[in-house]
Amino acid sequence: MDILPADASPPPQASHITHRKDYQPPAWLVPDAALTFDLGAKRTKVSARLNVVRGAGPRGPLILNAEALELLSVSVGGRKLSADDYSYADDRLTLVIEGDEAVVETEVRIAPDRNTQLMGLYASGGILCTQCEAEGFRRITPFPDRPDILSRYTVTLRADRTDYPVLLSNGDPGELRDLGDGRHEIMWTDPHPKPCYLFAAVAGKLAALKDSFTTMSGRIVALGIWVRPGDEPRCQHAMRALKDSMAWDERTYGREYDLDVFNIVAVDDFNFGAMENKGLNIFNSKYVLADRETATDTDFDNIAAIVAHEYFHNWTGNRITCRDWFQLSLKEGLTVFRDQSFSADHGSAAVKRIQDVRTLRIAQFAEDAGPLAHSIRPDSYQEISNFYTSTIYNKGAEVIRMMATLAGAERYRAGTDLYFERHDGEAATCEDWISAIEDGAALDLSQFRRWYTQAGTPTVNATLTHDADARTATLTLSQDLPNVPNAGGRKPMHIPLKTALFGRESGARLGKERLIELKDAAVQIDFGGIEETPILSINRAFSAPVSVKATRAPGELAFLSAHDDDPFARYEAMQELMSDWLVKRARGEGEDAAAIIDAVTRTLDDQSLDDAFRAEAILTPADTLIVDRIGTDVSPRAVVQARRTLRKTMLSGAGHERLMRIIESGRGGSFDLSPEAKGKRRLRAVALGLLFADPGEEAIAAAAALYDKADNMTDRMAAMTALAGSDTAERVRVLADFHARFRSDANVIDKWFTVQAMAETGDPLATTQHLMAHEDYSASNPNRFRALIGGFAANMPGFHAEGGAGYRFLADQILTVDRINPQTAARFVAPLGRWRRFRQDDAAAMRAELQRMLDAPGLSKDVREMAEKSLA
Ligand code: PHE
Ligand code: ZN
Repeated sequence: MDILPADASPPPQASHITHRKDYQPPAWLVPDAALTFDLGAKRTKVSARLNVVRGAGPRGPLILNAEALELLSVSVGGRKLSADDYSYADDRLTLVIEGDEAVVETEVRIAPDRNTQLMGLYASGGILCTQCEAEGFRRITPFPDRPDILSRYTVTLRADRTDYPVLLSNGDPGELRDLGDGRHEIMWTDPHPKPCYLFAAVAGKLAALKDSFTTMSGRIVALGIWVRPGDEPRCQHAMRALKDSMAWDERTYGREYDLDVFNIVAVDDFNFGAMENKGLNIFNSKYVLADRETATDTDFDNIAAIVAHEYFHNWTGNRITCRDWFQLSLKEGLTVFRDQSFSADHGSAAVKRIQDVRTLRIAQFAEDAGPLAHSIRPDSYQEISNFYTSTIYNKGAEVIRMMATLAGAERYRAGTDLYFERHDGEAATCEDWISAIEDGAALDLSQFRRWYTQAGTPTVNATLTHDADARTATLTLSQDLPNVPNAGGRKPMHIPLKTALFGRESGARLGKERLIELKDAAVQIDFGGIEETPILSINRAFSAPVSVKATRAPGELAFLSAHDDDPFARYEAMQELMSDWLVKRARGEGEDAAAIIDAVTRTLDDQSLDDAFRAEAILTPADTLIVDRIGTDVSPRAVVQARRTLRKTMLSGAGHERLMRIIESGRGGSFDLSPEAKGKRRLRAVALGLLFADPGEEAIAAAAALYDKADNMTDRMAAMTALAGSDTAERVRVLADFHARFRSDANVIDKWFTVQAMAETGDPLATTQHLMAHEDYSASNPNRFRALIGGFAANMPGFHAEGGAGYRFLADQILTVDRINPQTAARFVAPLGRWRRFRQDDAAAMRAELQRMLDAPGLSKDVREMAEKSLA
């Protein structure tokens, strides 16, 4: 290391990089852990008694991670150590232990109400709760905080009876005992060995919606969803979803629940969506509480999906956990695939697929093309919480889906059965999963493994030619791997492409759909008996997470948008039509929109299509997708302008009346959550949005009426969103009404912030800054911060306003929140990291803000990693 001159300012904390290849088994294991909590918001004392034994790793001292803990005492084998007997520095407590096993006891003090990072034990409202994934347990008690150490826990919770009447932890509860001094205590025992990141404890004034579920072998499980007293009725939807999930996992994967108790707790302050702690899931209240007055259909769907996701983790994550954090996608990709399948089975599968692909493209394709690209099993990280990414989750799910496609349903199930049989109770690796699927499903995945090591979205080029005399068609396919950071190689991938041909004259499918496995850099595939001009439909159902570049004759996309019998492919054709137009327009090239107008009106009028599908199909592609398509030197303002022009053109082409009819149709019926009813509301919202591309008196009146008469949040939000983007008196009235109506419900007030931050009328930055001064704004609540600042960052004209004021504002907010909650702050760096896409002046302004953050004193390593990588 260089020696610094005495007067130099200290260097920024050198970043420590963890590498996958450095994995070593643990030096010490902890088969049993007994914890006792004397709980209080100001002060909590945690006493731990750990049985430790030597593990298979290199022989060495016992190293316990310990962060933000006030150490009160340490003893080994019942003998109290003096401070010279151990070292406690750099967040590690190091103990030298003779022999191969010992009992280690520690006592520490923590301050939950000063824990603003929301990692470890913290206070949310009056509730004390924990969050340990990935590395929060070390903020509760000294412990070897790594997921391959599995322990049996007994947890004693002691607290004031009045402030903390309910005391929950993992596993099964003992009796609640009164301690006679105003406090009470309870002991929870979890018989299943688990990694410490799955530990949880909760204390507070909570009430439960209770129910029960009988498993396939007859175990009766007591279910509880714990919320603020009074909110129990708003947990019905989550409870329904939980019971459906338990039944679905038995049916679909043969997986049964394994404890007598399953609890969910909702808290208002939470960094992510929810957490799968064993037998005690902790949720962001946004993903639990719902009724028709306060939750949109999307909220209802998200609640069901996340309840399912966390429940499914019991097998994919908890029973079989991850050996190290590089294996994160082992549990997350697989569990996302499982929750996607669950949702598809409980609603419109086609619409679910369309929505999942849209999310993937907006978040993951952008990530995979930018400075933060990484494979689904990364090789290194600085801060693991930065790797809870769309790539790990969503691309990870696509990779599992491809395996399921290649295997077919039955063989895929044989593969997962083998995985559970082989690895139950273990901390496993992605390689373990792949081998189990390979053996159980009888697949050769040797080339497929590259999906785990290579980053970047592959491009598949496709050209179809027809030889009329020979009555054959030839499909030429090739693949390109992009040159992204951490590409991890660019060898040809194994890509399953569902493919079909359609006849231009007959409009019919020519033969069966084929599953083409593209494995080479380039290949030619022949189709026989093709009598008429064929049209190519490829990557149907989005069978692989790739970009397809197909050479198409004019009119082919319009044809597919009308005739393809795969709903995803049909949707895709419309999106392609619109994207092509938007790209040209944003580049200043003129383009006739007749084909789009034709496809939109045909879709709107086609009563054989369901409403939800029609809504998705006529949505214009997200601005960010157009930015990515253009690729470099993009003017963000031109993209916004192109989108506005297209929407106006679509509106005048479809006609006000057609849209008004949709908005009026089916209103006032009774409310339910059937796919049909949700589809109607969705189409109504999309139609209203389109009407507001150029709102006249009639549109304003329709939106105001929809708002006033709404008997559900979906319609009310659709109306408010439309009006919020208009410069009208109704905008002001409706926004004020909404706030007054829902002021006591934080999750609804978040919507109120987001709608305004995303509105494109007026000066979005001024609107956002004005809202920051609102008494309801708080930067320390992640939901509220995300609602307002995240809303603004997604406001294309606001964030990308000429001159860079939007960029400066976002950087300022990141720096503010970084002092409170670095994990949350780091998640907002990505929009600035997209600078490479934009014109020089915009790009320079974005870079300057990244640099300014890096120069800020006391920057967290979370934000530092994101900003450094974004600039590199
Ligand atoms: N493991 C959680 C999930 O995906 C996500 C999470 C990660 C929550 C880290 C909190 C902290 O279900
Ligand atoms: Zn998960």
